[in-house]
Amino acid sequence: MKVLVTGAAGFIGSNLVHYLTKERPSWKVTALDLLTYAGNLKNISSLVESGQVRFERLDITDDKVIDGLFEREKYDLVFHLAAESHVDRSILSAREFVSTNVTGTQVLLDAAYKHKTGRFVHISTDEVYGSLGPTGAFVETTPLDPTSPYAASKAASDLMVLAFCKTHKFNGSVTRCTNNYGFYHFPEKLIPLFITNAMEGKKLPLYGDGMNVRSWLFVTDHCDALLRVAEKGRAGEVYNIGGNSEAELPNKEVTRMILELLGKPADLVQQVGDRPAHDRRYAVDTTKIKDELGWTPKTPFNEGLARTVAWYQENREWWGEIKSGAYLSFYEKNYANR
Ligand code: NAD
Ligand code: DAU
Repeated sequence: MKVLVTGAAGFIGSNLVHYLTKERPSWKVTALDLLTYAGNLKNISSLVESGQVRFERLDITDDKVIDGLFEREKYDLVFHLAAESHVDRSILSAREFVSTNVTGTQVLLDAAYKHKTGRFVHISTDEVYGSLGPTGAFVETTPLDPTSPYAASKAASDLMVLAFCKTHKFNGSVTRCTNNYGFYHFPEKLIPLFITNAMEGKKLPLYGDGMNVRSWLFVTDHCDALLRVAEKGRAGEVYNIGGNSEAELPNKEVTRMILELLGKPADLVQQVGDRPAHDRRYAVDTTKIKDELGWTPKTPFNEGLARTVAWYQENREWWGEIKSGAYLSFYEKNYANR
């Protein structure tokens, strides 16, 4: 079984590559990544060096190069995760989001269709549905209503995949997951940023009133869901993936739990100006993936968060290098005038 994972040096992609080598050791996995600011080869270097995984540094928007790869390899399965993934960056500049998330997906679809790839799983997000009020949950048929350039670019890519399924009888599925957390998470997102800032004694910039709600899923549970969709999901279908109701928490509460786990004082929290069009609440109904594919999340939030905090404590070098590099100029731009 020849498998391609795009975005394989990013947060979820690298966790998926580790998961696949453990759960499906006979699969031949190619890990593709451009290594943008968010990609880090160290996340998968042990697997590349041991020969368990082959690494290709390629740009998914480069149609000739991607066509050449599919011509050579004839993949049975593609997990497509490569993307620009940070909402705040998309607010500062949307260009890369359209290029990577929309054009990049179309380039992969063209190559996969032309070279008769067996199956294509497109990893998307609950953010395509927009924002919820205090109750209810998104179902797979909820109309798309993205509010950030990031979410709009993901919605466009989802529709492109589903259009290929309709037009070409393409064997693709779309997954829409809630917020992930876990190991190798780039420290620009809420949980890794707040863990590492607290460890450094820096302020924790909480947007607005801190009452925006996210539904958190431990990244390994997401990988489990993706493997099930790949192996048993139906073509042309969308599958929501998300945490249990105990993992649906306001940012203020997640922040409090992080500080408690680290034994740090509450006065590190600094309420700052809100994110524009900040979605108030996300939650997804996961009945479809539970009923059809038998998937449920296994990791309770307090357990997953404790493991995540411990990982950042044990891997200071990994995030220290990131936070002292080019990342500093984004931090200055995003947080200076709040
Ligand atoms: P990430 O930013 O950590 O990783 C993205 C990876 O894509 C990076 O390694 C980057 O180098 C690579 N990449 C970017 N542009 C590329 C290009 N042109 N060619 C090849 N590689 C390129 O993101 P993540 O959090 O791991 O998210 C992975 C996917 O899952 C994304 O599609 C995202 O929309 C989706 N998703 C993320 C979450 C979440 O909570 N993190 C939740 C739901 C869905
Ligand atoms: O819902 C799935 C999405 O989850 C994915 O599609 C995205 O790729 C992923 O980045 C994530 O998006 P969010 O915008 O929800 O994640 P982020 O970690 O940026 O923010 C989580 C919440 O925390 C959100 O309400 C904004 C808030 N926040 C974030 C940062 C970075 C703060 O209060 N302060 C911060 O500094």
